[in-house]
Amino acid sequence: MVSYKVPVIAGDGIGPEVIAEGRKVIAAAQEVYNFDVEWIDMPFSADHYVKTGETISESSLKELSKYRAIFLGSIGDDRKVKPGVLEKGILLTMRFYYDQYVNLRPVKLMEGVETPLKGKTAADIDFYVVRENTEDFYVGIGGRSKKGTSKQELEVIRQMYSVKFGLDVETDSDEIAYQLGVVSKEGAKRIIEYSFDLANSRPKKHLSSVDKANVLTDIYGFWREVFTDTAAKYPDVKTDFNYVDAVTMWFVKNPEFFDVVVSPNMFGDIITDLGAMIQGGLGLAPGGNINPEGTSMFEPMGGSAPKYKGLNKVNPIATIWAGAMLLEHLGEKQAAAGIVDAIEQNLKEKKIRTYDLGGSAGTSDVGTDIARIVKQQGRQ
Ligand code: IPM
Ligand code: MN
Repeated sequence: MVSYKVPVIAGDGIGPEVIAEGRKVIAAAQEVYNFDVEWIDMPFSADHYVKTGETISESSLKELSKYRAIFLGSIGDDRKVKPGVLEKGILLTMRFYYDQYVNLRPVKLMEGVETPLKGKTAADIDFYVVRENTEDFYVGIGGRSKKGTSKQELEVIRQMYSVKFGLDVETDSDEIAYQLGVVSKEGAKRIIEYSFDLANSRPKKHLSSVDKANVLTDIYGFWREVFTDTAAKYPDVKTDFNYVDAVTMWFVKNPEFFDVVVSPNMFGDIITDLGAMIQGGLGLAPGGNINPEGTSMFEPMGGSAPKYKGLNKVNPIATIWAGAMLLEHLGEKQAAAGIVDAIEQNLKEKKIRTYDLGGSAGTSDVGTDIARIVKQQGRQ
């Protein structure tokens, strides 16, 4: 029997509760699909930070790089730690450290789930957003000019932008904050290739690029060049370029137009919350942070929702689905498909569901029901 070792970071707020359900369903899949998972619990969280001052240490990062996939609940608790500290110190640190350049986010409306989009059904909403996950405005290069800013820093600000601020920065007549967005050729190429491969493997073979090349002409003009060069290698895939503002409109008006959508990091962040909403909410939205050759990480897209902690209330389906993506990534394709089928079955039945879907079942009831279906369907 194949056995996998999988580190799990349950994290903060509702993280531990939803992760427990993800593990419960994977345990059910193990029984019918004949594989084994050994979970390795990792403590990284707000409590761990408050206690030890450590977000995630270099040695832990190194240690975890031995594994192919990490299961992540959610990170951050505003009541204990200032917003941003853990998000950057743990989540973004891992995405960058493991070079998880693909953030794969399915946008799929399942039968039995209501979308806020009038007249749209499961047949209309079924696409992937492939969000670039290591570049753009997430590279963390930025700063502020203020009294005491060195001449050298000011020079950097000038050079970086070569725009006319119309301010006399040197005399501190005003302050400037800046944040740099970066698109590299290799960085764009690998995510765009991944997206073409994905589009090529799907019946519609359609890839849409998202950018803002009409205004941020340097970085997204470059993105388009790389896209066009790459497209030449995929003659069977239909393509189009879209401005991000228009895309938000089309996601609402014509979601059926989309098949695979590739986007730079920040726009990808924004449009995937919209994507989550049209598939029924964050409680149903999983994501994979993938390095095809390295250590990947699978998580629900939603946050830690500390106010729901311990109430057995929130929807665990995003996490259970993320667990299926994790198994798929490890090569357990049947088990992954079995779990997604079981999620669909649970949703279609409309019986055991959490409050966000109009039900009154608890987090653990939903996990138990999906685990039951996994076992039942697997044995048929
Ligand atoms: C997400 C989140 C993160 C992001 C935050 C928590 C750093 O919004 O995974 O979409 O911006 O990527
Ligand atoms: Mn986000």
